[in-house]
Amino acid sequence: MSAPVENIVIAGAGQAGGRAAEALRARGFQGAITILGEEPHPPYERPQLSKAMLYSPDAPVAYIKQARDWSNVLNVRLETGAAVTDCDADRRTVTTADGRSFAYDRLLIATGTRPRRLAALENPCLEIQYLRNVEDALRFRKSVQHQSRIVIVGGGVIGLEAACAAAKNGCLVTVIESEPRLLARAFPPLVSDLVAAKHRSHGVNFIFGATVTGSTPDGVQLSNGEEVEADLVLIGIGVEPVPTVAERLGLPTAGGIAVDACGRTAASGVFCAGDAALQWSRCHGRAIRVETWANAQNQAISVAANMIGEAREYSDPPWFWTDQYDLNIQVAGDMLDSDHIIRGDERSGRFSVIAMRGSEVVGALSVNAAKEMAMLKRVIAANARPSRADLESPAYDLRAALK
Ligand code: NAI
Repeated sequence: MSAPVENIVIAGAGQAGGRAAEALRARGFQGAITILGEEPHPPYERPQLSKAMLYSPDAPVAYIKQARDWSNVLNVRLETGAAVTDCDADRRTVTTADGRSFAYDRLLIATGTRPRRLAALENPCLEIQYLRNVEDALRFRKSVQHQSRIVIVGGGVIGLEAACAAAKNGCLVTVIESEPRLLARAFPPLVSDLVAAKHRSHGVNFIFGATVTGSTPDGVQLSNGEEVEADLVLIGIGVEPVPTVAERLGLPTAGGIAVDACGRTAASGVFCAGDAALQWSRCHGRAIRVETWANAQNQAISVAANMIGEAREYSDPPWFWTDQYDLNIQVAGDMLDSDHIIRGDERSGRFSVIAMRGSEVVGALSVNAAKEMAMLKRVIAANARPSRADLESPAYDLRAALK
């Protein structure tokens, strides 16, 4: 029989780390829990950083709990400003940047991801920003109130949500996207076009099929030979896993930190959840990293149970949302390399796109149709097999697929 678990260390004080600690206590774990986080903050949720916080000076940071409640209510030791810099798999210890050592029976890697850097702007001639944490959001919010010409590199979720805030503040916004369309990683072309049209109606310019190759004090130089004037450049070209802990444990990190359905890594006693976990996705038919708020929360809750001896497999389909102007767009599963069925009228501005591979529903996207998305998520999660004819019929009640 394996020794009882008495000491759990969580590396990373983000959404996944915080939710895992809560779940451990909710499931009755009475041993020691230590959360080690690099940021100066207790765990908080990130969606607001590129949404509410960019609009209102009053929008609060979405802390999962107030700092004192981690110890007072949950008896969790929270160490902020304490990046994990080393691990010893044999002795089962982790070490923080200030040299302190923490022993574990079980370790959760919840250190997530960091923005991918744009090499061409590592020594910039003008101001460069990224958007990942509270300080970044406060800085960008301040900037859009004072800067007039903003170049955004990357037409993904960060770039476009930031473009909304900048355009609404009256900035002149140009988005440089290396692909031929927006959000190509998650959206079908129809919806990429709709989003681009909405941004253009708010004055945003797009340059596709190009990237930034350099800067001058007046702006940026592009791979297509163009120059775009700018006072500020915001870079949102994706994220990459923070590799330190996994590397120190000798785990491979290419593409993410591989986990099984219970969140176990290949290192004994070590689990991983959140943005960095490379996990099997039935919808995609391969292992992927799921960089979403919902995954950071729900995978972490599930993995926490496994750290204390349960055997709970996690298989929620990926799901995220983005808010841009008056568009609320939600995506579940995988929309790429599939046949698409449209439910509703695209011209009404409220519709869904369902992705099918053979008889399998592998993905869904809703535009201002959150209620329908709630049903579609259930259809995907249940691996239900409604017929294409049924899905195409506006009268078809999706609840029937779940019976
Ligand atoms: P992303 O992967 O959504 O978009 C990056 C975009 O940059 C892609 O369209 C890509 O083609 C483009 N790109 C890559 N390299 C480029 C280059 N050199 N030049 C020009 N374009 C280039 O990543 P993004 O927007 O940085 O977001 C990062 C993370 O933020 C997400 O993965 C997610 O974790 C989180 N997030 C989630 C949100 C949500 O769920 N609504 C909202 C905002 C952020």
